[in-house]
Amino acid sequence: MSELWAWNVSAWVYARTYGPLAHRLDEDVFSWLGREGLAGKVVMDCGCGPGVVARKLVELGAAKVICVDVSPKMLEQVGDDPRLIKVQARLEPGELKPIADQYAPEGVDVVLFKRSLYHPTDVAVEVLREAHGLLKPGGQVVVVHPERKILPYAFGRPLRVHRHTPYHLFNRTISKIGVRLGGEQYTVHTRDELLSLARRAAGENSVSEIPTSQGSFNLIALTRAADAA
Ligand SMILES: C[S@@+](CC[C@H](N)C(=O)[O-])C[C@H]1O[C@@H](n2cnc3c(N)ncnc32)[C@H](O)[C@@H]1O
Repeated sequence: MSELWAWNVSAWVYARTYGPLAHRLDEDVFSWLGREGLAGKVVMDCGCGPGVVARKLVELGAAKVICVDVSPKMLEQVGDDPRLIKVQARLEPGELKPIADQYAPEGVDVVLFKRSLYHPTDVAVEVLREAHGLLKPGGQVVVVHPERKILPYAFGRPLRVHRHTPYHLFNRTISKIGVRLGGEQYTVHTRDELLSLARRAAGENSVSEIPTSQGSFNLIALTRAADAA
C-alpha cells in the first residue's frame, strides 16, 4: 500500500482542516440529492477520511453509510454509530463490488467520492464505472473533485483571496511532494476532464454538473436511470 503512509500522516490533522468551504461543499451535495430524500438511504462514502460527511448523512437519516478508506488512522475517527460501517480497502477497480455485496446486498443509493478520486484517468474511469454499476435505479454517484488549475483551486471563481487560499496552495504543494516521495496518488482534473472521464464511465446522458457557487472544486453526478433493469 504505497500511498498509505501519507494519508495516515494527514489523518493527524485532517479533521481540523475541515473548514467552511468543506462544509459548503457538503451543503451543495445535500441540496442536489435532496436533503429530505436522504432518509433511509444506503450510502457508500469512498475515501471517507475521518467521517465528517458520513456522520452528517446519518444525522440526515441515512439507513447506513459504508465508510471505505485505505487509512486505518482515518477510519479510527469515523465514530461508533452502528449505521457507520467501516471498511479498510483501496479504491481500485474490482474492490467496490465485493464490499457492496457484503454490506449492501440490497443495492446502494448514493456512492460519494469527496476529494478522493485521485487515480490516473483510465483507472478513475474504471472505478466510477464500477461504482455506477452498484446503484439502485435512480441512484447517483457524486464526485467532489479539486480543480486541477491552480488559480481557481486557490482563489475560486471569480479569482479573489479566500480564507482557504493559503491552505489550498499549501495542500497542492504538499500533495505534489507526496507524489514525488511515492507516498500518495494524486491525479487531479479540470472540470472538462472530470466530465469527460465520467461520461466514459456512465454514458453521455448520465452525467450532470451539481450547482455550486464556489470555484475551487468541481461537483458532478453520475445517475442510474430510474427505469434501469
Ligand atoms: C482528502 S481526504 C478526503 C476525506 C473526506 N472524503 C472529506 O472530504 O473530508 C482523502 C481520503 O481518501 C482516502 N484515499 C485516498 N486514496 C485512496 C485510495 N486509493 N483508496 C482508499 N482510500 C483512499 C484517504 O485515506 C483520505 O482519507
